[in-house]
Amino acid sequence: MDLFDKFDGVAALHASLPFKDVDPFKVVMDKILSETVAVINGRETIMAGTNNYMGMTFNEEAMEAAKAAIDAYGTGTTGSRVLNGTYGIHKELEATLCEFYDTEHCMVFSTGYQATLGLVSALGGKDDYIIIDADCHASIYDGCSMSNATIVRFKHNDVENMERRLKRIPEGANKLVVVEGMYSMLGDAAPLKEMLEVAKKYGCMTLVDEAHSMGFCGEKGRGIAEELGVEHLADIVVGTFSKSVGTVGGFAVSNHPKFDILRFVCRPYIFTASLPPSVIASATAAIKAISRSGNRRAHLWENARRLHAGLKSAGFDMCTNTAESPIVAVHLPDPDVGTRFWEQLLEEGVYANMAAPPATPSGVFLMRVSVCAQHTTDQIDEIIKRFKVTAEKVALELRNT
Ligand SMILES: Cc1ncc(COP(=O)(O)O)c(C=O)c1O
Repeated sequence: MDLFDKFDGVAALHASLPFKDVDPFKVVMDKILSETVAVINGRETIMAGTNNYMGMTFNEEAMEAAKAAIDAYGTGTTGSRVLNGTYGIHKELEATLCEFYDTEHCMVFSTGYQATLGLVSALGGKDDYIIIDADCHASIYDGCSMSNATIVRFKHNDVENMERRLKRIPEGANKLVVVEGMYSMLGDAAPLKEMLEVAKKYGCMTLVDEAHSMGFCGEKGRGIAEELGVEHLADIVVGTFSKSVGTVGGFAVSNHPKFDILRFVCRPYIFTASLPPSVIASATAAIKAISRSGNRRAHLWENARRLHAGLKSAGFDMCTNTAESPIVAVHLPDPDVGTRFWEQLLEEGVYANMAAPPATPSGVFLMRVSVCAQHTTDQIDEIIKRFKVTAEKVALELRNT
């Protein structure tokens, strides 16, 4: 008996994947040539699985700000936000986010994972209830595990099921409803207006994770709550810098008058080092750039719709009926086809994400593309073309259209 024996099932599943040369979960990017092109295994490859929605990783202002911050402050803070890890620029980033979201309060965390983990775990006390969508991200589930609250799950994006669950919670209990704006695997949007309205009808506090909707949803790029005009129903918005903002880090914004006390009780905020100056500076510059990036947003949506329409008309089994987000995913029948498709697509010069359980809902296998605002129309057409060639090579049956 060994403590590692419990992972034998995972090891066996991984060992059974039929890839020949490149392990889909151990890809190395040898060179990054731009937001949309990298060198993998010595070949130029279109990057179609990066979450770099707004293409901010090579934003000139963000890069210049990062370089200047290293010169001015060094490479790291070597401390927690509550000790020596808060510099003037950390406060400036929080102020920038307050302005961007038009909120009173903001806390910047070292990752998006920690932001959600921290908020959910800190708010869920012993007699409280946390109500979550069954398909929510691991950071929300982990926050629930770390909390002392009772956890109630409802069916993915099912408002009626959510209301039924809420009805059963004892009256007078404190309740936190946690949902995402956009779900990262299938790329489907939450019916956020209806969900937040039901949550408020039952007196719940609400937290919306806009990790995959910030940057390109809503007029200013604040997320789905902005797009649907329901920001006033979201008590807390959580987000990440690792997707549309093009770096790393996380944040939570709120107008709750007591919000700032979380700086003293939120363990994933306190017991970790703060973000380094270069990251803080590039995040600040990228968020300012996003707020005036209407054209980029429009091009991103054009790309997403073009890709979705192209794959759908080719007969792929799409995860959503229309392009609800820049995440465009197709179902693959099993791990065998999934792995062979992924490897062959890479051979064709396109990197997408092979998404498998437990990251995916209901045990499905997906080929997931995340579109970037910097993809050209030609690149989108190439992705569609190479998906079709790959389907033929692995004998994936496409629907008759
Ligand atoms: C919904 C959601 N929340 C939080 C995170 C964590 O973000 P980060 O990469 O900043 O840790 C992710 C990342 O995939 C996510 O999809």
